[in-house]
Amino acid sequence: MTSQMTQSPSDAKAAETGANATRYFQKKAKATTGTDQARAAAIIGDALAALHGVIEAHEVTYAEYDVLKAWMIQVGEDGEWPLWLDVFIEHSVESVNNDSRPGSKGTIEGPFYIPGAPQLGSEGTLPMRDGEPGTPFIFRGEVTDADGNALPGATVELWHCDSEGFYSQFAPGLPEWNLRGVFTADESGAFAAHTMMPAPYQIPHDGSTGAMIAAAGWHPWRPAHFHLKVQAPGHELLTTQLYFEADEYLDSDIAGAVKPELMLTPVDRTDGEGKEVSYQFRLCPEA
Ligand code: DHB
Ligand code: FE
Repeated sequence: MTSQMTQSPSDAKAAETGANATRYFQKKAKATTGTDQARAAAIIGDALAALHGVIEAHEVTYAEYDVLKAWMIQVGEDGEWPLWLDVFIEHSVESVNNDSRPGSKGTIEGPFYIPGAPQLGSEGTLPMRDGEPGTPFIFRGEVTDADGNALPGATVELWHCDSEGFYSQFAPGLPEWNLRGVFTADESGAFAAHTMMPAPYQIPHDGSTGAMIAAAGWHPWRPAHFHLKVQAPGHELLTTQLYFEADEYLDSDIAGAVKPELMLTPVDRTDGEGKEVSYQFRLCPEA
C-alpha cells in the first residue's frame, strides 16, 4: 500500500486536503477531556479486547499484522487520521451523544468545518467564484425550539463542497470561504441561503484511506450534502447535515452518517433558475 499513486490534478488536490485537515485539527484540538483513570482504563481495555476478538475470530496472520502496522504508519504520514476517523468512527460517537435529544437530528461534523465564515444576514448568497459551476439552489430554513416556537436571532452556519467535491480552505486553489457562510434567523425564525447544489462527494481516496477502502472492495462516495451548525441562546448546538432524496449513495454512505430525518426533496423554481427547498430546524433546550 502506498499513497504515491497520484493520477490527476483532482487526486493531487485530495492528498493536500488530508494534510490540511491534520494541520487544522492540530490547531483546534483540546488537550484534556476530564476523563479519569478508571474510565480511561475501561475504554482503552475494552477497545483492545474488541480488537483481540477480531484477530482471534479471523485468525489474523503475521503478514496481515505487518500490513496493518505499515498502513497505520502511512495514514499518519499522509496526514489522513482526521479524514479516516471522521469517516469511520465519528458517526458512532455522534449517535451515542445525540440520538436521545429531542428536536432535529444531528449527524457528523466531518473534518472540514471552520468557524468565522462571512455573516450574510437572514438572506444572502454564499461566497462563490464567478461562474461557480452547479445548479443554483435556494435553501430556506426556519429555526424553532422543540415545541415549534420561532427562535429569531438563531445562527445557521452552512458549509459544503463545490461541484467537484472540494472544500475551500482544505483543497488548494479555492478562494477563502468559498461556499461557506453564516445566516441569522429573522423575526419569524427564517433564513434563506442562495448557493449551488452540492454534488455527491468522494472522500480523498488516493492515499492510505483509499487503500483501505480498495482493499475491502468498497467505494469512497458520500451522498451530496449540506453541513450545518445551528444555535440559539439556551439551546444545544445542533451539528447536522442534509441530504437529497434519490441520491444514489444514500444507502451506502462511506461515512455512515445518513439518517431518514435528514432528507431534502428540492423542487424546480418557478422562475426556472434552479431548485429550492426548505427545512425546519428544531433545537433542543440546553441541559
Ligand atoms: C469527510 C468529508 C466530509 O465532507 C464529510 O462530510 C465527512 C467526512 C472525510 O473526508 O473524512
Ligand atoms: Fe462533507
